[in-house]
Amino acid sequence: MKKIVVLISGSGSNMVAIKNAIDNGIISDTELSCVISNEPEAGGIEKAQHLGLPTQILSHKDFKTREMFDEELVAVIKNINPDLIILAGFMRILTSIFTSAFEGKILNIHPSLLPKYPGLHTHESALKNDDREHGITIHFVTEELDGGPIIAQGYLVIGDTKDSKSLQQRIHQIEHDLYPKIINEVVANNIVYSSQGTIYHPSCQNYQDKIFYAL
Ligand code: GAR
Repeated sequence: MKKIVVLISGSGSNMVAIKNAIDNGIISDTELSCVISNEPEAGGIEKAQHLGLPTQILSHKDFKTREMFDEELVAVIKNINPDLIILAGFMRILTSIFTSAFEGKILNIHPSLLPKYPGLHTHESALKNDDREHGITIHFVTEELDGGPIIAQGYLVIGDTKDSKSLQQRIHQIEHDLYPKIINEVVANNIVYSSQGTIYHPSCQNYQDKIFYAL
């Protein structure tokens, strides 16, 4: 049985999708060992508790520096000893203290088609720039913010969606579908990190193409 931990800061809808995917076999042979939040008030913590998942809160405000927070986060996660660390709406910039401790074992989901729109307010940017399409990126985490090797991307045509809230809802649908599938392949070692890029088992090569969602 593989172990994963999920790091959140907010509403935790991706975390719930991951837990559901474990329960219904989309992610196989895996246990969600702990949901960790840096925000004590994160809505996702209550959802995790409701689902009977172990939770832990590590507030970044209790630490003087980013590095001190990361050192403690590394210690907490090493204690759990997971096979994979999943960032699911975890809104902290991680230092090399964290990324080097778990090289190749951290996934992130980002709500844009990277390298377009790293950072925040991605939906607003896509709308403001009249982009034809928008989407999500799942990637391995390195020290470079939103810059590690890309694993998979899902996209949609923005069309008549004119406000960021509606766009975010459509984007969430893609995230909830694609993230569990990718997590399943990574825990099974069918998708592997290398500093040169992502390595795909032949059964996973379709994830190298941008996947279109007709939502
Ligand atoms: C997701 O859309 C995720 O892509 C984004 O935060 C949202 C969290 O939603 N992540 C980032 O912006 C990371 N830079 P959730 O808490 O409902 O899963």
